[in-house]
Amino acid sequence: MNNILITGASRGIGRAIALKAAENESRLFLNSLTGGENLSSVKTEIDRLRAAGGIAGSVSLVEGDVGDPDEVRRIFGIIENELDGGKIGVLINNAGISHIGLVQDMTDEEWNRIIAVNLSSVHYLCKAVIPHMLGLGGGHILNISSVWGNVGASCEVAYSASKGGVNAYTRALAKELAPSGIAVNAIACGCIDTDMNRHLSGEDRNELCEQIPAGRFARPEEVAELAVSLCNGNNYLTGQVITFDGGWI
Ligand SMILES: NC(=O)c1ccc[n+]([C@@H]2O[C@H](COP(=O)([O-])OP(=O)(O)OC[C@H]3O[C@@H](n4cnc5c(N)ncnc54)[C@H](OP(=O)(O)O)[C@@H]3O)[C@@H](O)[C@H]2O)c1
Repeated sequence: MNNILITGASRGIGRAIALKAAENESRLFLNSLTGGENLSSVKTEIDRLRAAGGIAGSVSLVEGDVGDPDEVRRIFGIIENELDGGKIGVLINNAGISHIGLVQDMTDEEWNRIIAVNLSSVHYLCKAVIPHMLGLGGGHILNISSVWGNVGASCEVAYSASKGGVNAYTRALAKELAPSGIAVNAIACGCIDTDMNRHLSGEDRNELCEQIPAGRFARPEEVAELAVSLCNGNNYLTGQVITFDGGWI
């Protein structure tokens, strides 16, 4: 049975990935910043679906701030204790936050927070999981990135820089880990229908849909389908930043 860690699994894309991953037998470790009812409802839903479908597996909740290296060490301490010698074979770095505003109005704290949560977290988690995957002789690391990491967005400069960093980190780490059979890829998402876009007015949303050749936002479940198939797939596919944006950018 595979052991899978998914960050930011309480809502949106991470929640959908957790539910999709639960369709196969696996031991899931689900993280979010605040934990609470949102995260425990994902476990309840998975336990219910698995019981109905006769699918074996378990779900452990590991809340904590993945942008803080001490917290990531604490989270891995809990996971390693629970695994008792078992190893994580799949890591999905999905946790992320956005920040909209002009660069000159951004505080140093806001800048540091975006970089910590969106980019440094990927490094802290990869560093912690690599020994697991080396022990298994392979694995999959998947980073959930953004089209703004490919091309940059006005008023989202810090977010774009953090996701551009994730894309470069993905390509570089893939080269470092391919000899060990560990695949490292990213999905650069376009507009996905989650809380992250709830601030958009109806008018802004319609305008965006007009710009997207597919004519709509994607559902989180559609990202989840791709994410889980990549992590179940051949590890010869590595170092790729796969754009998932309905032909938008
Ligand atoms: N939605 C889009 O259009 C879009 C487009 C491109 C890329 N993405 C990327 O996709 C990923 C998921 O986005 P989403 O739209 O699903 O976002 P969302 O609905 O806002 O959910 C964000 C998730 O990340 C968690 N999180 C935030 N900060 C964290 C931290 N410091 N430590 C641990 N967990 C943390 C949240 O936990 P709590 O519930 O505890 O707050 C929540 O589970 C992000 O990396 C985002 O940048 C999204």
